[in-house]
Amino acid sequence: NKVYAGIDLGGTKILAVVLNEQGAVVNQAETPTQAQEGSEAVISKIIGLLRDCLSSSHQLESIGVATAGTLNARDGIVAYASNLGWSDVPLGKRLEEAFGVSVNLENDANAAAYGEWAVGAGKGTQHCVYVTVSTGIGAGIISSGRLIRGRDNSAGELGHITVDMNGPRCLCGNVGCLELYASGTAIGRRAAELAAAYPAKASALLAKAAGGAMTSRHAAEAATEGDELALQALREAGSALGNGLVSIIHVMNPEVIVIGGGAAGIGAPLLEPMKEALADRGISSMTTGVRFASPILGKEAGAIGAALLVADQR
Ligand code: BGC
Ligand code: NA
Ligand code: ZN
Repeated sequence: NKVYAGIDLGGTKILAVVLNEQGAVVNQAETPTQAQEGSEAVISKIIGLLRDCLSSSHQLESIGVATAGTLNARDGIVAYASNLGWSDVPLGKRLEEAFGVSVNLENDANAAAYGEWAVGAGKGTQHCVYVTVSTGIGAGIISSGRLIRGRDNSAGELGHITVDMNGPRCLCGNVGCLELYASGTAIGRRAAELAAAYPAKASALLAKAAGGAMTSRHAAEAATEGDELALQALREAGSALGNGLVSIIHVMNPEVIVIGGGAAGIGAPLLEPMKEALADRGISSMTTGVRFASPILGKEAGAIGAALLVADQR
């Protein structure tokens, strides 16, 4: 039986899926990973994980890999992946050697966008933008029924558009990048800053973090209990996210925007200020018609999308 593999290579885990010819997931597995392990160890893990997912009746046709960061996809090279601390890792070649099939590398958000569009929340649309709000912010854009991949499968770096020209410098080299204000990482950082600035109001928020580093999850939990500082951190992030979406709506004129990623699960405290920014600043004929949708595929979106992207082109 012909099968298509998809791998999602994240900063904390590797997820592998195997799809049949109908595009259904027939097997999946995951394993934790850490940047300190180094690329050789991580590549061995990927190979082992995928071997475990394949059975003797499977005839592997291709491998699609979703990874954060920028790629040199034509040469199968991960150019720069901040979550893994990788630069210029020849992942495609190594997997091709191990499995004897063609390998396609794709930006993680692009792969998830393709998955959600092909079989998830964007199904049946022509113009769909998928945004992931997680450690960073990424996007994948489907326009006129095609994923915009760019020269190196790296298009859609929404997290690195400028929302403040006088903002701090980002690791990417730009300044005032959206993900410095609206990612999960940024939400945790801002909540910690507010707690330090207003200690008299911070007891609930500090209790969530229990002495450890403040995360977006802590802020989200405190916000559901009405915590003022947590709500402020989320309001600021949501508003920044809205500013970023105004730009992508103006450029791409989408019919649907799917907001995914761990931090998107925060819901209204983040998404309401986001919508307010759209209403306040967008070109209304373009923004008012946009439908917002929740993702359907869950944590497998990137791996499924990466596999389908190759399978659909067979
Ligand atoms: C990276 C993108 C990625 C996004 C979500 C950003 O920091 O630059 O490539 O898609 O995070 O993982
Ligand atoms: Na992208
Ligand atoms: Zn940046």
